[in-house]
Amino acid sequence: MASQAQHPHLPLPDYFSKFASIYVRQTGNSTLNILADVITENVQTSAHPVRPDSVVHDTAAGPGIGAAALVARLPKDQLPKEMLVSDNVAMMVSAARESLVASPLPHVDCKELDSQDLSSVPDNYFTHSINNFSIFTFVRPADAVRETYRTLRPGGLAVVTCWRRFAPMFIVHAAQKKIRPDLPLMPTPSPEFYEEGVLQKVVEESGFAKDDITMIDKVLLVTDDENIAGLTMLISGPMMSKARDGYTEEEEARWVESVRQSVKEEVEQFGGIRFEAYILLATK
Ligand SMILES: C[S@@+](CC[C@H](N)C(=O)[O-])C[C@H]1O[C@@H](n2cnc3c(N)ncnc32)[C@H](O)[C@@H]1O
Repeated sequence: MASQAQHPHLPLPDYFSKFASIYVRQTGNSTLNILADVITENVQTSAHPVRPDSVVHDTAAGPGIGAAALVARLPKDQLPKEMLVSDNVAMMVSAARESLVASPLPHVDCKELDSQDLSSVPDNYFTHSINNFSIFTFVRPADAVRETYRTLRPGGLAVVTCWRRFAPMFIVHAAQKKIRPDLPLMPTPSPEFYEEGVLQKVVEESGFAKDDITMIDKVLLVTDDENIAGLTMLISGPMMSKARDGYTEEEEARWVESVRQSVKEEVEQFGGIRFEAYILLATK
């Protein structure tokens, strides 16, 4: 499928489809870069590295972020022999499929599946399961973890990540306060997951033993102009339209400038756009 030139500093593989590229651009590559670092620094150094005989599931994968991170960080001859990439949004699945058809992964299936009900997948199937920055979007997060546990082989490794500080939301709120400080701030989905211990508790209550869980904190400072521009586009656009509920036309017209100013303030305060994440590794 169509490839396009990528920023040389990004691990984004050049086979990625246009939609997938837009997704990663507008996330400032945050979900991809954090997962890529987790693979290199935490998974491959663990007792359960991904190897050529691994069978990997990336659940709620968006446009194939887990596969992209593996391809970016593992030598071709170390890529897993089998990979399932799934999401419950058809457009995400087709973007992943278009992209990955040209990837060096030996065998990859892209399927529309609900992470909370993987009944078409047998028990004890995967050696690794990735659930990257999606748990807070599930209606029933505990069911998704139960399905991860059920489909993982004994001894298999699950990687579950969620935000501790989702920078775009702070920038949205700063931009809102500049225009209509009297209106409610845009809500974030499942805000409890930002709290320390919540992710761990959900994973523990859904099958994984406390002693088999490791928590790691990661910080990602987005400093390059391309990624900052992508994030600015996300925050300025329709994904954050709820932030402008109740705005007049004149207030709407001030949104882009207010976001630009709020991004500038974030960068001045932290030296970049600052994401913080909880990384959970759990073995079955
Ligand atoms: C914030 S995105 C993260 C995507 C990707 N994992 C990444 O690292 O960027 C959340 C994804 O979860 C998917 N999703 C939400 N609920 C889901 C469900 N019940 N089953 C499967 N996918 C789901 C969405 O379609 C979206 O692609």
